[in-house]
Amino acid sequence: MDPGDLVLRGGRVFAVSGDQAADVRISGGRIVEIGRGLVGSRIVDVRDLWVVPGLIDLHVHLREPGQEYKEDIETGTRAAAAGGFTTICCMPNTRPVNDQRTVTELIVRRAREVGAVRVKPIGAITQGLEGKVLADIADMKEGGIVAISDDGRPVMSSGLMRRAFEYARTFDLPVVQHAEDLDLSEGGAMNEGAVATRIGIKGQPACAESAMVARDLEIVEYTGARYHIAHVSTARTVALVRDAKRRGLDVTCEVTPHHLTLTDEACSHYDTNTKMMPPLRTQADLDALLEGLVDGTIDCVATDHAPHSPVEKDVEFECAAPGLLGLETALPLILDFVRMGTLDDRRAIAALTSAPAKAFGLPGGSLAVGAVADLCVIDPERPLTITAEGLASKSKNTPFLGQTLAGRAVLTLLEGRAIHDLDRRLA
Ligand code: DOR
Ligand code: ZN
Repeated sequence: MDPGDLVLRGGRVFAVSGDQAADVRISGGRIVEIGRGLVGSRIVDVRDLWVVPGLIDLHVHLREPGQEYKEDIETGTRAAAAGGFTTICCMPNTRPVNDQRTVTELIVRRAREVGAVRVKPIGAITQGLEGKVLADIADMKEGGIVAISDDGRPVMSSGLMRRAFEYARTFDLPVVQHAEDLDLSEGGAMNEGAVATRIGIKGQPACAESAMVARDLEIVEYTGARYHIAHVSTARTVALVRDAKRRGLDVTCEVTPHHLTLTDEACSHYDTNTKMMPPLRTQADLDALLEGLVDGTIDCVATDHAPHSPVEKDVEFECAAPGLLGLETALPLILDFVRMGTLDDRRAIAALTSAPAKAFGLPGGSLAVGAVADLCVIDPERPLTITAEGLASKSKNTPFLGQTLAGRAVLTLLEGRAIHDLDRRLA
């Protein structure tokens, strides 16, 4: 026992070996022991709390470089730590776009300097996200990217998508698609359906997503690539993924907490914080998404944390930038399903830890002796009122402002060091 060790005592430990009431001893940045009656120089009582692996988010917009008035690596990673995350992947739609190694390296370096959590960049599929010419994927891989995506936009050209799959395959990188057929979505600002008609906003049909997924799956089958679908939002997409997995294709996907919890009815009051791409859908879609998450068709939960300032949001619904914050509300929104009994707690935690790690081949995501001590201690009942002042994120664009949710990270450890300590247990 070295003098610097720390024991989390008496929590419900979500370990690889099964969950149990136990102590976790951390030393030298690693988990060194899991068991009963452990002793150490610092003891933290975590009775009635869950001890889980640090959460992993495959889909975050950090806005640095170039749009630091919305978010930057420092504030975005602080929001991540507050939400219980220890690893986040950041999307390449920055200014400049992360479509070359110099930008990848800048992000990696900045994250090392000011980042509270681990940051894994995602590189662009095409130069400038323009969908015309492949980016230098090999070079970006050398710089540290873990996947490629043109997120925010789809790769519309089937031929280019084929080349991207073939190229990414040689580097064993997942290709992340923002699935939206632009010819079908045609600039629609919300889901096409009864609500859009009633409130007079141009919609985009659910098939704009599923048609793109169906096309991609045909090319995946032909090229044998690793394909990951960002923010799945429709029942049809879930059905297509279920079938593709049955056929043995290397397909994974994610769902956001907001697509699981809000329908297009939420847009009725023209709150621009309910505008996002893909748009909020119908109750039938939500039911299918939850079913997909429960049965593993949907591998993981990702936030699509998309900060925007009042300049982009305090405008007419149709003119507003799409997107909302996610890092600080993800855990309570998902734990709601656990409380309602519709999602098993171990599955909920897996969807936020081991499943995303597996999808992108990232380290972490599981709790075992010998593992790096990236951990999150959760109070599943602790209330959390969402306020502008309470958010660590630089932007405040969330439709949950003013609401009280339940369940939150009370302590987040990165390599055994506290990066979020709500009750100053380690102070
Ligand atoms: O709502 C969204 N916001 N969807 C996207 O795909 C992009 C994102 C953003 O960058 O703001
Ligand atoms: Zn996104």
